[in-house]
Amino acid sequence: MSTSDKKERVTVATLQRMRGAQEKIVMLTAYDAAFSRLADEAGVDVILVGDSLGMVVQGRENTVGVTVDDMVYHTRLARRGRRHALLLADMPFLSCADSSTALRHAGRLMQEGGADMVKLEGGAEQVEVVRRLSVNGVPVCAHLGLRPQFVHKLGGYRVQGRDEQGAKILREDARALEEAGAEALLLECVPATLAAQITGFARIPVIGIGAGADCDGQVLVLHDVLGITPGRLPRFARNFMPGHDSIQATLRAYVKAVREGRFPSQEEAF
Ligand code: KIV
Repeated sequence: MSTSDKKERVTVATLQRMRGAQEKIVMLTAYDAAFSRLADEAGVDVILVGDSLGMVVQGRENTVGVTVDDMVYHTRLARRGRRHALLLADMPFLSCADSSTALRHAGRLMQEGGADMVKLEGGAEQVEVVRRLSVNGVPVCAHLGLRPQFVHKLGGYRVQGRDEQGAKILREDARALEEAGAEALLLECVPATLAAQITGFARIPVIGIGAGADCDGQVLVLHDVLGITPGRLPRFARNFMPGHDSIQATLRAYVKAVREGRFPSQEEAF
Protein backbone atom coordinates (compact mmCIF):
# COMPACT_ATOMS: atom_id res chain seq x y z
CA MET A 1 0.00 0.00 0.00
CA SER A 2 1.46 3.41 -0.96
CA THR A 3 1.37 6.42 1.41
CA SER A 4 -1.37 8.01 -0.65
CA ASP A 5 -3.53 4.89 -0.25
CA LYS A 6 -3.42 5.44 3.52
CA LYS A 7 -5.03 8.88 3.28
CA GLU A 8 -8.58 8.72 4.59
CA ARG A 9 -11.59 8.77 2.31
CA VAL A 10 -13.52 12.05 2.40
CA THR A 11 -17.03 11.56 3.81
CA VAL A 12 -19.94 13.79 4.67
CA ALA A 13 -18.51 13.89 8.21
CA THR A 14 -15.16 15.08 6.83
CA LEU A 15 -16.87 17.98 5.08
CA GLN A 16 -18.69 18.90 8.27
CA ARG A 17 -15.40 18.78 10.20
CA MET A 18 -13.69 20.97 7.59
CA ARG A 19 -16.49 23.49 7.82
CA GLY A 20 -16.12 23.56 11.63
CA ALA A 21 -12.34 24.00 11.33
CA GLN A 22 -12.81 26.71 8.68
CA GLU A 23 -10.79 24.70 6.18
CA LYS A 24 -11.94 25.50 2.67
CA ILE A 25 -13.54 22.58 0.83
CA VAL A 26 -12.40 22.07 -2.78
CA MET A 27 -14.81 20.59 -5.29
CA LEU A 28 -14.18 20.06 -9.00
CA THR A 29 -16.12 18.33 -11.74
CA ALA A 30 -14.79 15.23 -13.49
CA TYR A 31 -16.61 12.85 -15.77
CA ASP A 32 -14.24 9.94 -16.33
CA ALA A 33 -11.59 7.84 -14.61
CA ALA A 34 -8.57 9.71 -15.99
CA PHE A 35 -9.62 13.14 -14.77
CA SER A 36 -11.13 11.97 -11.52
CA ARG A 37 -7.77 10.36 -10.71
CA LEU A 38 -5.92 13.59 -11.53
CA ALA A 39 -8.37 15.64 -9.45
CA ASP A 40 -8.07 13.20 -6.57
CA GLU A 41 -4.25 13.24 -6.71
CA ALA A 42 -4.29 17.06 -6.79
CA GLY A 43 -6.09 17.03 -3.42
CA VAL A 44 -9.66 17.81 -4.48
CA ASP A 45 -12.05 16.89 -1.63
CA VAL A 46 -15.20 16.33 -3.67
CA ILE A 47 -15.38 15.15 -7.28
CA LEU A 48 -18.64 16.27 -8.82
CA VAL A 49 -19.95 14.28 -11.75
CA GLY A 50 -22.02 17.24 -12.85
CA ASP A 51 -24.69 17.26 -15.50
CA SER A 52 -22.55 20.02 -17.00
CA LEU A 53 -21.17 16.99 -18.86
CA GLY A 54 -24.08 17.61 -21.22
CA MET A 55 -22.23 20.70 -22.44
CA VAL A 56 -18.55 20.03 -21.87
CA VAL A 57 -18.49 16.34 -22.84
CA GLN A 58 -21.57 15.78 -25.02
CA GLY A 59 -21.48 19.16 -26.79
CA ARG A 60 -25.08 20.09 -25.98
CA GLU A 61 -26.34 23.66 -25.52
CA ASN A 62 -27.54 23.01 -21.96
CA THR A 63 -28.03 20.24 -19.39
CA VAL A 64 -31.65 19.42 -20.20
CA GLY A 65 -30.84 16.47 -22.50
CA VAL A 66 -28.70 14.63 -19.95
CA THR A 67 -30.32 11.36 -18.81
CA VAL A 68 -30.04 9.22 -15.70
CA ASP A 69 -28.28 6.58 -17.84
CA ASP A 70 -25.69 9.20 -18.87
CA MET A 71 -25.14 10.13 -15.24
CA VAL A 72 -24.83 6.51 -14.09
CA TYR A 73 -22.31 5.80 -16.86
CA HIS A 74 -20.09 8.81 -16.12
CA THR A 75 -20.34 8.33 -12.36
CA ARG A 76 -19.15 4.75 -12.78
CA LEU A 77 -16.16 5.96 -14.82
CA ALA A 78 -15.28 8.70 -12.34
CA ARG A 79 -15.58 6.24 -9.47
CA ARG A 80 -12.79 4.13 -10.98
CA GLY A 81 -10.35 7.06 -10.83
CA ARG A 82 -11.05 8.35 -7.35
CA ARG A 83 -9.16 7.17 -4.30
CA HIS A 84 -9.89 9.62 -1.47
CA ALA A 85 -12.36 12.24 -2.66
CA LEU A 86 -16.08 12.04 -2.01
CA LEU A 87 -17.94 11.24 -5.24
CA LEU A 88 -20.97 13.44 -5.77
CA ALA A 89 -23.31 12.80 -8.72
CA ASP A 90 -25.93 15.08 -10.21
CA MET A 91 -29.58 14.10 -10.45
CA PRO A 92 -30.38 15.20 -14.02
CA PHE A 93 -33.41 16.99 -15.49
CA LEU A 94 -36.76 15.48 -14.35
CA SER A 95 -35.09 12.76 -12.31
CA CYS A 96 -36.58 14.21 -9.09
CA ALA A 97 -40.12 14.88 -10.29
CA ASP A 98 -41.46 13.17 -7.14
CA SER A 99 -39.90 11.44 -4.19
CA SER A 100 -40.36 7.86 -5.48
CA THR A 101 -38.81 8.75 -8.85
CA ALA A 102 -35.96 10.52 -7.07
CA LEU A 103 -35.34 7.56 -4.76
CA ARG A 104 -35.17 5.15 -7.70
CA HIS A 105 -32.74 7.35 -9.62
CA ALA A 106 -30.57 8.19 -6.62
CA GLY A 107 -30.43 4.45 -5.91
CA ARG A 108 -29.08 3.84 -9.41
CA LEU A 109 -26.45 6.56 -9.03
CA MET A 110 -25.26 5.01 -5.78
CA GLN A 111 -25.62 1.30 -6.54
CA GLU A 112 -24.68 1.21 -10.24
CA GLY A 113 -22.56 4.37 -10.42
CA GLY A 114 -20.90 4.20 -7.00
CA ALA A 115 -21.80 7.76 -5.94
CA ASP A 116 -21.41 8.67 -2.26
CA MET A 117 -23.88 11.54 -2.41
CA VAL A 118 -26.28 13.07 -4.93
CA LYS A 119 -26.93 16.68 -5.86
CA LEU A 120 -30.31 17.97 -6.92
CA GLU A 121 -31.48 21.33 -8.13
CA GLY A 122 -34.41 22.88 -6.31
CA GLY A 123 -35.66 25.00 -3.44
CA ALA A 124 -38.28 24.44 -0.78
CA GLU A 125 -40.48 22.60 -3.30
CA GLN A 126 -37.96 19.74 -3.10
CA VAL A 127 -38.23 19.34 0.67
CA GLU A 128 -40.28 16.14 0.38
CA VAL A 129 -37.76 14.62 -2.06
CA VAL A 130 -34.79 15.53 0.16
CA ARG A 131 -36.52 14.10 3.23
CA ARG A 132 -37.34 10.82 1.44
CA LEU A 133 -33.77 10.43 0.16
CA SER A 134 -32.27 11.37 3.50
CA VAL A 135 -34.32 8.92 5.57
CA ASN A 136 -33.34 6.19 3.11
CA GLY A 137 -29.62 6.82 3.60
CA VAL A 138 -28.93 8.96 0.53
CA PRO A 139 -26.81 12.01 1.40
CA VAL A 140 -28.06 15.05 -0.52
CA CYS A 141 -26.42 18.26 -1.63
CA ALA A 142 -29.14 20.80 -2.53
CA HIS A 143 -28.31 23.13 -5.44
CA LEU A 144 -29.80 26.61 -5.01
CA GLY A 145 -29.57 29.96 -6.77
CA LEU A 146 -29.08 29.62 -10.50
CA ARG A 147 -30.41 26.19 -11.46
CA PRO A 148 -29.25 25.41 -15.00
CA GLN A 149 -31.96 22.74 -15.47
CA PHE A 150 -34.50 25.60 -15.34
CA VAL A 151 -32.92 27.37 -18.31
CA HIS A 152 -36.07 27.16 -20.42
CA LYS A 153 -38.15 28.72 -17.64
CA LEU A 154 -35.56 31.36 -16.80
CA GLY A 155 -34.84 32.24 -20.42
CA GLY A 156 -31.09 32.32 -19.75
CA TYR A 157 -28.52 32.16 -16.99
CA ARG A 158 -28.79 35.05 -14.54
CA VAL A 159 -27.60 35.90 -11.05
CA GLN A 160 -30.33 34.96 -8.56
CA GLY A 161 -31.39 36.62 -5.29
CA ARG A 162 -30.37 40.14 -6.25
CA ASP A 163 -33.53 41.81 -4.87
CA GLU A 164 -34.78 41.48 -1.28
CA GLN A 165 -37.71 39.23 -2.24
CA GLY A 166 -35.42 36.83 -4.17
CA ALA A 167 -32.86 36.85 -1.35
CA LYS A 168 -35.57 36.06 1.22
CA ILE A 169 -36.77 33.08 -0.82
CA LEU A 170 -33.22 31.75 -1.10
CA ARG A 171 -32.65 32.06 2.65
CA GLU A 172 -35.92 30.26 3.35
CA ASP A 173 -35.12 27.56 0.78
CA ALA A 174 -31.71 26.97 2.39
CA ARG A 175 -33.28 26.63 5.87
CA ALA A 176 -36.03 24.31 4.62
CA LEU A 177 -33.64 22.01 2.74
CA GLU A 178 -31.25 21.78 5.67
CA GLU A 179 -34.21 21.01 7.94
CA ALA A 180 -35.33 18.28 5.51
CA GLY A 181 -31.97 16.54 5.87
CA ALA A 182 -29.68 17.99 3.17
CA GLU A 183 -26.03 17.40 4.13
CA ALA A 184 -24.65 20.26 2.01
CA LEU A 185 -25.80 23.24 -0.02
CA LEU A 186 -24.43 24.46 -3.32
CA LEU A 187 -25.08 28.09 -4.22
CA GLU A 188 -24.67 29.07 -7.86
CA CYS A 189 -24.55 32.67 -9.05
CA VAL A 190 -25.86 34.54 -6.04
CA PRO A 191 -24.55 37.83 -4.63
CA ALA A 192 -21.55 37.31 -2.36
CA THR A 193 -23.24 39.06 0.59
CA LEU A 194 -26.25 36.75 0.40
CA ALA A 195 -24.03 33.66 0.11
CA ALA A 196 -22.08 34.85 3.17
CA GLN A 197 -25.34 35.24 5.14
CA ILE A 198 -26.51 31.74 4.21
CA THR A 199 -23.10 30.27 5.03
CA GLY A 200 -23.30 32.09 8.36
CA PHE A 201 -26.58 30.58 9.52
CA ALA A 202 -26.36 27.16 7.83
CA ARG A 203 -25.22 24.24 9.96
CA ILE A 204 -24.07 22.26 6.92
CA PRO A 205 -21.25 23.00 4.44
CA VAL A 206 -22.07 25.60 1.77
CA ILE A 207 -20.17 25.34 -1.52
CA GLY A 208 -20.22 28.26 -3.93
CA ILE A 209 -19.81 28.86 -7.63
CA GLY A 210 -20.21 32.50 -8.50
CA ALA A 211 -21.16 33.05 -4.86
CA GLY A 212 -18.11 34.85 -3.47
CA ALA A 213 -15.25 33.84 -1.23
CA ASP A 214 -17.11 33.43 2.07
CA CYS A 215 -18.70 30.05 1.35
CA ASP A 216 -17.22 27.00 3.08
CA GLY A 217 -15.87 25.80 -0.24
CA GLN A 218 -15.78 26.34 -3.98
CA VAL A 219 -16.59 24.33 -7.07
CA LEU A 220 -15.62 24.86 -10.70
CA VAL A 221 -16.13 22.98 -13.93
CA LEU A 222 -12.95 21.11 -14.91
CA HIS A 223 -12.95 22.45 -18.47
CA ASP A 224 -13.05 26.07 -17.20
CA VAL A 225 -10.11 25.40 -14.85
CA LEU A 226 -8.13 23.93 -17.76
CA GLY A 227 -9.12 26.75 -20.12
CA ILE A 228 -10.61 24.40 -22.71
CA THR A 229 -14.20 25.61 -22.59
CA PRO A 230 -15.10 27.08 -25.97
CA GLY A 231 -16.00 30.77 -25.96
CA ARG A 232 -15.75 33.29 -23.14
CA LEU A 233 -15.42 32.03 -19.57
CA PRO A 234 -18.18 33.04 -17.17
CA ARG A 235 -17.09 35.87 -14.86
CA PHE A 236 -16.97 33.55 -11.82
CA ALA A 237 -14.67 30.95 -13.42
CA ARG A 238 -10.89 31.06 -13.74
CA ASN A 239 -8.56 29.42 -16.22
CA PHE A 240 -5.69 28.17 -14.00
CA MET A 241 -3.62 26.83 -16.90
CA PRO A 242 -1.48 29.93 -17.67
CA GLY A 243 1.86 29.59 -15.90
CA HIS A 244 1.53 25.82 -15.47
CA ASP A 245 3.05 23.23 -17.74
CA SER A 246 0.82 20.26 -16.96
CA ILE A 247 -2.76 19.38 -16.09
CA GLN A 248 -1.52 18.09 -12.73
CA ALA A 249 0.14 21.41 -11.86
CA THR A 250 -2.97 23.32 -12.98
CA LEU A 251 -5.30 21.28 -10.77
CA ARG A 252 -2.92 21.68 -7.82
CA ALA A 253 -2.93 25.44 -8.39
CA TYR A 254 -6.75 25.46 -8.25
CA VAL A 255 -6.77 23.42 -5.03
CA LYS A 256 -4.18 25.71 -3.42
CA ALA A 257 -5.96 28.90 -4.48
CA VAL A 258 -9.24 27.73 -2.93
CA ARG A 259 -7.58 26.44 0.27
CA GLU A 260 -5.75 29.72 0.75
CA GLY A 261 -8.84 31.84 0.03
CA ARG A 262 -7.27 33.31 -3.12
CA PHE A 263 -10.09 32.08 -5.34
CA PRO A 264 -12.54 33.60 -6.05
CA SER A 265 -11.44 37.24 -6.07
CA GLN A 266 -13.96 40.09 -5.68
CA GLU A 267 -13.97 40.53 -9.46
CA GLU A 268 -15.02 36.87 -9.82
CA ALA A 269 -18.06 37.41 -7.56
CA PHE A 270 -21.36 39.30 -7.88
O1 KIV B 1 -23.23 20.31 -13.32
C1 KIV B 1 -22.32 20.92 -12.76
O2 KIV B 1 -21.15 20.84 -13.12
C2 KIV B 1 -22.68 21.78 -11.64
C3 KIV B 1 -21.67 22.79 -11.21
C4 KIV B 1 -21.68 23.93 -12.15
C5 KIV B 1 -21.88 23.22 -9.82
O3 KIV B 1 -23.74 21.68 -11.11
